[in-house]
Amino acid sequence: MIVLETVDLAKVYRGGDGGEITVLDGINLRVNRGEMVAIVGASGAGKSTLLHLLGALDRPTRGAVRIADEALDGLSDEEVSALRNRSVGFVFQFHHLLREFTALENVMMPLRIAGWDDRRARARAAELLDRVGLGARTGHKPSELSGGEQQRTAVARALAIDPAVLLADEPSGNLDHANSERLHDLFVALSRDLETAMVIATHNRSLAARADRTMLLEEGRLTETGVREVVP
Ligand SMILES: Nc1ncnc2c1ncn2[C@@H]1O[C@H](COP(=O)(O)OP(=O)(O)O)[C@@H](O)[C@H]1O
Ligand SMILES: [Mg+2]
Repeated sequence: MIVLETVDLAKVYRGGDGGEITVLDGINLRVNRGEMVAIVGASGAGKSTLLHLLGALDRPTRGAVRIADEALDGLSDEEVSALRNRSVGFVFQFHHLLREFTALENVMMPLRIAGWDDRRARARAAELLDRVGLGARTGHKPSELSGGEQQRTAVARALAIDPAVLLADEPSGNLDHANSERLHDLFVALSRDLETAMVIATHNRSLAARADRTMLLEEGRLTETGVREVVP
């Protein structure tokens, strides 16, 4: 089942001098439930722009996005936010955790926004932190966690609402080798265990190699560079 689809997606930015830059030019992408897709490409190729469009953080200049079988075009800004809040999880290069709150409270936040009562939200957040290997760190604030732990907390937060789609933009871009590997192991394990589709923009070759598919973004277009052989 396809949970994320773009048709002829394009994005043109207008510079202050009136000039235009075409960053994406006819992107057709289909991601199945549970599939892990890596997006690679040079810095400035448009990976972040693409993820913003996929996650409905920005609107395309042309073309369409469908998330969890809902078309975005024609929706009001409020309807787009509601769709995003129930269907999309984001992980960025920097964790963007709220510094005044504990790991547990950070993971509870999207559930509170979604209207969960405190007791259920707490239980779900604790279970997710346990799943990402932070069961013993739930009471720590971001400053009391290592970079790798902060990112794993951000992954738990992104998964809290059980999104159809998880989007990650250079999630290990700020981590050392050991923490990167641990985060990549986690993405692969989650992809195996959950039905969440994942689209991960990354410079990291070892992560790209572990995805089900790797797509190269170049000159505004996506091309498939590798399909992992499925080991039975
Ligand atoms: N809001 C914006 N306004 C104008 N240009 C932008 C904006 N965001 C990104 N760009 C430009 O679009 C191109 C692609 O950027 P980006 O999507 O961040 O690439 P990547 O994530 O692959 O490094 C770059 O040339 C960048 O300068
Ligand atoms: Mg980027």
